[in-house]
Amino acid sequence: MRNLLVTGGAGFIGSNFVHYMLEKHPNYRIIVYDKLTYAGRLENLERVTAHPHYAFVQGDICDMAKVRETILAYDIDTIVNFAAETHVDRSILDPDAFVKTDVYGSYVLCEVAKELKLERLHHISTDEVYGPIPQGAFRETDPFRPTSPYASSKAGGELLVLSYFITYGLPITITRGVNTYGPYQYPEKAMPLFITNALDDAPLPLYGDGLQVRDRLYVTDHASAVDVVLHHGQLGEAYNIAADCEKTNSEVARMIVQALDKPESLIQPVKDRAAHDVRYALDITKLRSLGWAPQVSFEQGFAQTIQWYVEHQDWWRPIKSGEYLEYYRRQYVER
Ligand code: NAD
Ligand code: TYD
Repeated sequence: MRNLLVTGGAGFIGSNFVHYMLEKHPNYRIIVYDKLTYAGRLENLERVTAHPHYAFVQGDICDMAKVRETILAYDIDTIVNFAAETHVDRSILDPDAFVKTDVYGSYVLCEVAKELKLERLHHISTDEVYGPIPQGAFRETDPFRPTSPYASSKAGGELLVLSYFITYGLPITITRGVNTYGPYQYPEKAMPLFITNALDDAPLPLYGDGLQVRDRLYVTDHASAVDVVLHHGQLGEAYNIAADCEKTNSEVARMIVQALDKPESLIQPVKDRAAHDVRYALDITKLRSLGWAPQVSFEQGFAQTIQWYVEHQDWWRPIKSGEYLEYYRRQYVER
């Protein structure tokens, strides 16, 4: 039996990973450690609250004493770190929390994992650490050229994790995933923002010309890739995760209004994001060699996601108030 500490497990990918792991490995114990920032929600974990192999601890990854205490209390042998500030636009408005959580928080997890001699620290990174690529696809050995405070903080955190392998032999692995979508994604990210706005007949704010390209990975495929790397990845190595489902933002916005039977006039070009990365793309030869391949086509994942947001308005409607509206005004009114 393995005892996993899933940091950031109340967020979008983390909560989907917890669901996936409890089903796939019924003998594992999963302890979610999460600060419950605006993006972390216990509702995301409602389905597993009563599971005998699940527990929740509210805490900050920057709080070394609390991380240590939790690891000892639950006899943790493995950390999977999803905890991060994650939204590029918020990092442009206010980078402070990004540096704290994504860099310093990663350091804290490394330090405690080293001190307590954990079997593994798996760190969740992102394609954004490489920066944009107009053509072709990045391999794991390519250099980092992050452009936003979010991507730069993620790059700093990841490099610290790698340095703990090189310097101290800490058993780490890293995954760098592309844009992920699916149920429980906070409606600040483009896809859930567009879907929920369209359901309310509100404008879909498309940055710039809308021709930026993102690869689109369904969230259960992200979870299964992390599971494969946890079990079969080589220590000290990073693995790209991608879906080979490249789409422009404009294509996705059009697909959303069509799927919801709304007029295309809802799509409104607005002022571009500063330093907007034109395209991300990753080569996944290395991950495929571990036997992983994406299972969900974009058509399938897209339809499931639309259906989930239509059927779970009780999940996202309460989010779209208070702090969210304040952020929304700051981010969009001037645009
Ligand atoms: P999210 O914003 O939905 O969730 C982040 C979670 O981390 C929340 O539950 C939040 O409460 C928690 N958290 C934030 N600061 C914390 C702290 N200091 N201590 C403890 N918990 C804290 O994010 P997500 O989209 O699920 O992303 C999860 C991870 O995957 C992140 O590391 C992100 O960089 C990475 N990633 C995301 C994507 C994507 O498309 N969403 C793609 C590639 C990689
Ligand atoms: P986002 O979901 O924020 O992910 P990331 O910036 O990490 O790729 O944005 C996805 C794409 O959609 C990105 O090219 C920016 C664009 N976008 C918009 O056009 N309008 C929006 O309101 C948002 C939030 C994003």
